[in-house]
Amino acid sequence: MCGIVGYVGDKDALPILIRGLKGLEYRGYDSSGVAFIQNDNLKVIKKKGRIKILEEMLTADGYLSEGDDKPAQSDIHMGIGHTRWATHGAPSDENSHPHLSENGRICVVHNGIIENYIELRQLLTEKGYTFISETDTEVVAHLIEYHFYFDCNQDIFASVREALLEIEGSYALGVLCTDFPDLMIAARKDSPLVVGIGDHENFVASDIPAILSYTREILIVEDNEIIVLTKKDVKLYSVHGVLIQRDPIHIDWDSEAAEKGGYEHFMMKEMSEEPKAVRSTVAPRLRNGKIVLDQFPLSAEQIRAARNIHIVACGTAYHAGCVGKYVIEKLCRIPVIVDVASEFRYRDPLVDNQTIVIIISQSGETLDTLAAMREAKSRGASIISIVNVVGSSISREADYVMYTAAGPEIAVASTKAYNTQLACMYLLAFEMSHLIGKISDEEYRTYQDKLLEIPEMIEKVLESRSEIQRFASEHFNADSIFFIGRGLDYALSMEASLKLKEISYIHSEAYPGGELKHGTIALIEKGTLVVCPLTQDSLMDKMISNIQEVRARGAVVLGITTEKQTRASEVCDQVFYIPDVDPLLAPIVAVTPCQLFAYYMSVYKGCDVDKPRNLAKSVTVE
Ligand code: G6P
Repeated sequence: MCGIVGYVGDKDALPILIRGLKGLEYRGYDSSGVAFIQNDNLKVIKKKGRIKILEEMLTADGYLSEGDDKPAQSDIHMGIGHTRWATHGAPSDENSHPHLSENGRICVVHNGIIENYIELRQLLTEKGYTFISETDTEVVAHLIEYHFYFDCNQDIFASVREALLEIEGSYALGVLCTDFPDLMIAARKDSPLVVGIGDHENFVASDIPAILSYTREILIVEDNEIIVLTKKDVKLYSVHGVLIQRDPIHIDWDSEAAEKGGYEHFMMKEMSEEPKAVRSTVAPRLRNGKIVLDQFPLSAEQIRAARNIHIVACGTAYHAGCVGKYVIEKLCRIPVIVDVASEFRYRDPLVDNQTIVIIISQSGETLDTLAAMREAKSRGASIISIVNVVGSSISREADYVMYTAAGPEIAVASTKAYNTQLACMYLLAFEMSHLIGKISDEEYRTYQDKLLEIPEMIEKVLESRSEIQRFASEHFNADSIFFIGRGLDYALSMEASLKLKEISYIHSEAYPGGELKHGTIALIEKGTLVVCPLTQDSLMDKMISNIQEVRARGAVVLGITTEKQTRASEVCDQVFYIPDVDPLLAPIVAVTPCQLFAYYMSVYKGCDVDKPRNLAKSVTVE
């Protein structure tokens, strides 16, 4: 959802900006641009398309030297950059950031949405400002300029503050002004922003990995804060101008974790990391036969008193929540409602202080999820979050955070994060049901042992990936693919289908096995591919009937089942076997062949696996 980066220091700014933008490209890749001050003028270079195109332009203009990141000239020591995921206005050169103010002496980069931009645009137009883009961002540049000359005595900090007080919506902003050639301003509300503190250099960025190769001292910026950066100094203020003291945090993980490490795609690298990610999420929390959730805030009484549990999330994280519903209801016998975050917030949800809300988010920054969490919190609910990114907004605002130890996930299509979200779901469900006495001590221990076996099972699936690859090579021309399943296999099917459409652009639907015949079966014709996860032993007979129904209409069926389920081969055209996993835990293993299937389909179709069209990894707009 757009990435911003800024640098001020002694080094050459442009290679740092380009490297930062490459790290942020997962957030959007419709266009990119940079701005810097040169000879008392703001120079903006921006272009529709990937960052590679911007890099080529900068090289052609002599700002970068060919073939490496080294600068061709060294008089630029401060600048801001942006990579865009279009919201207001199509991807185009004009709509690319940075945007200049009317007189060209102020420029901004922005991530977020200015919700009252139409009113502001009208107001500024009446005052004589002209707009050259369709973006909501351009109003910010003009509005700052307006205050600069009208009521702020040409003080850029005061002008930014005045503008922010008028803006409604979300933003992470970077601002430059030619009258202050050594100073950069940034601000945040509901869009992520961090400051990197270096030696005679300082940075701003939409996430930590973008600047991690330069500094490990990171200042997390909160909502409604403004930062003034020079190469020697970082000052943090509230939007009302009050100075704020906050210590930076030291980041001890490595930027290498966010690099491809020899794999052709981040997605393949990240799937290969699933066993390790699940192990790191589970193992440290199991001690002496107990699940240890440090400072878990809910007592047995509070869990028993809960009227219901809401799970709220978006995308893949929502699908992890769908698995969580089955597991928690089965083990805790408490009703669970799973909601897409953008719907939850606006339907006046039945949430109060007797509700437990579980928020799931890889990034911890998804705006819909964050807003839903705030809504639930304001209604008195206890908020448990499952988050991957340490220090992210959701992790900071929730009552309790359970971190998934997936490590950085760069590919837009989420893979290892899902497995680890499920791992947390299981830990949570086992712990809560044990606390309230719904499972015995023995069952509690057995579940823990079974969870510890999962990483090895995923390893086995990954070892057999060539079978999935072969299957994909035979079917990548399909127009439409259906996933059907019952119970947890249906929850899994939703994620499998999403993965496929996200990265291969093949139309796909996930259906409960028994529901297909109520309409969607009309779409099954000779040769239609139907993928069936078959991991729920108790539902096997029913699924076999559903498979017969689609085969009778010409479908080709791929079954994904456990080694012990020999009957699958009698009804499916092809079968992929996963190790014998407890049905309750099956989705965490069975998702991997589905992810591999989507991956190979995308590769065979020649799609951009890691950066699929129209998508972004971190969605910080509503
Ligand atoms: C985007 C990503 C998905 C992700 C969803 C929720 O749509 O492309 O992969 O599942 O956001 O993101 P979150 O960071 O909240 O898990």
